[in-house]
Amino acid sequence: MFPLRVPIFAVLVSLTVGQYDDYDYQPASQYGPSSANCAQECECPINFPTAMYCDSRNLKFVPIVPSGIKYLYLQNNLIEEIKAGVFDNVTAELRWLVLDHNQITNEKVAKGTIDKLTGLHKILFSFNKLTEAVIPPSKSLDELKMMNNQLSKFPAGSLAGMQNLTSVHLQNNELTSKALNGVFKGLNKLVAIDLTNNKLKKLPSGMPSSLETFYGDHNDISSIAAGDLKELPKLAYLRLAYNQMTDAGIPAGVFNVTSLIELDLSYNKLQSIPEINEQLEHLYLQVNEINKFHLENICKFSGPLNYSRLKHLRLDGNNLTHADLPHDSSNCLRQASDIIFD
Ligand SMILES: *[C@@H]1O[C@H](CO)[C@@H](O)[C@H](O)[C@H]1NC(C)=O
Ligand SMILES: *[C@@H]1O[C@H](CO)[C@@H](O)[C@H](O)[C@H]1NC(C)=O
Ligand SMILES: *[C@@H]1O[C@H](CO)[C@@H](O)[C@H](O)[C@H]1NC(C)=O
Ligand SMILES: *[C@@H]1O[C@H](CO)[C@@H](O)[C@H](O)[C@H]1NC(C)=O
Ligand SMILES: *[C@@H]1O[C@H](CO)[C@@H](O)[C@H](O)[C@H]1NC(C)=O
Repeated sequence: MFPLRVPIFAVLVSLTVGQYDDYDYQPASQYGPSSANCAQECECPINFPTAMYCDSRNLKFVPIVPSGIKYLYLQNNLIEEIKAGVFDNVTAELRWLVLDHNQITNEKVAKGTIDKLTGLHKILFSFNKLTEAVIPPSKSLDELKMMNNQLSKFPAGSLAGMQNLTSVHLQNNELTSKALNGVFKGLNKLVAIDLTNNKLKKLPSGMPSSLETFYGDHNDISSIAAGDLKELPKLAYLRLAYNQMTDAGIPAGVFNVTSLIELDLSYNKLQSIPEINEQLEHLYLQVNEINKFHLENICKFSGPLNYSRLKHLRLDGNNLTHADLPHDSSNCLRQASDIIFD
């Protein structure tokens, strides 16, 4: 179905590239002349009439969106304000709202605009000046991106019931663990949360059991609670580099869970190698204060069938050298192709 080509293309790009501006699309001009039902500042390709392209044209405001539009591109403008009424003709049908790289503040998002969009699938609102997350009341939301704002608040309960939400990108904001208490609860399709470079002191409470990826590098996390990962039976990628973790903040066995494939604890204050599970493949511990190689935390037992799946282990920037590797480590670490000491 040709008219859907642009969003499908963009979804493919977003899966492969994974960048913030991954809603890339063909230039509108390629689709021929603009249809009649279009805001005059924008382009609505005649053969893709549900999309309105208003990006990169120094707009200071959001034009009134005509009925029939489902995909709205407003990125790379100078928009400061969303005035009441602009979405009135598309409150139920608008699916994508792209507002990245503008100057929008919460005070200037009028009531009766985003809070009326009941059919939105994606809200991309990165690189603006929001201090509180702006969440549409859409049960169909599958992607939320609000990175590089100044978010310190997240309205409680605002994501409740969003059963199709799969990823939340909130990196480079000022969110605390408290601000996020319980907001991800019950979102049973949520697989990825990115909270890199925020102000977390611990993992947000109530993350759903569907979660596979949690990125929390560059925060102030000093401890993990004993039960935290037990509630996340699918968690495979956990990144907590550049935090304040010490041995005392890591209860025995907290990372000894079979689902983890990658664990990044680099640039913390650990003095020993934490207990990990045999299934872990990538362990990053560089730049800590580790001074002993505790093989028993990697393999409790070694034997023909008892060995670690570790492939990559980074220990550079610690008080360890190759000579600290125990003599009997080769059985346990038989799959490790890369153990880096310096
Ligand atoms: C909004 O819808 C009303 C009623 O269908 C119509 O009269 C009006 O022209 C529409 N406005 C726009 C900008 O599409
Ligand atoms: C969630 O996604 C499924 C599959 O794409 C779809 O059938 C369903 O209608 C969606 N739910 C909502 C509330 O949009
Ligand atoms: C990890 O947990 C398993 C049981 O789930 C246990 O047998 C094993 O000894 C633990 N590993 C370490 C390194 O403590
Ligand atoms: C691992 O080693 C322990 C202790 O020697 C043993 O009880 C267990 O059966 C072994 N597991 C496998 C899969 O070899
Ligand atoms: C580094 O390791 C050496 C040898 O194990 C030990 O003598 C020294 O005290 C350690 N230094 C620190 C800062 O832990």
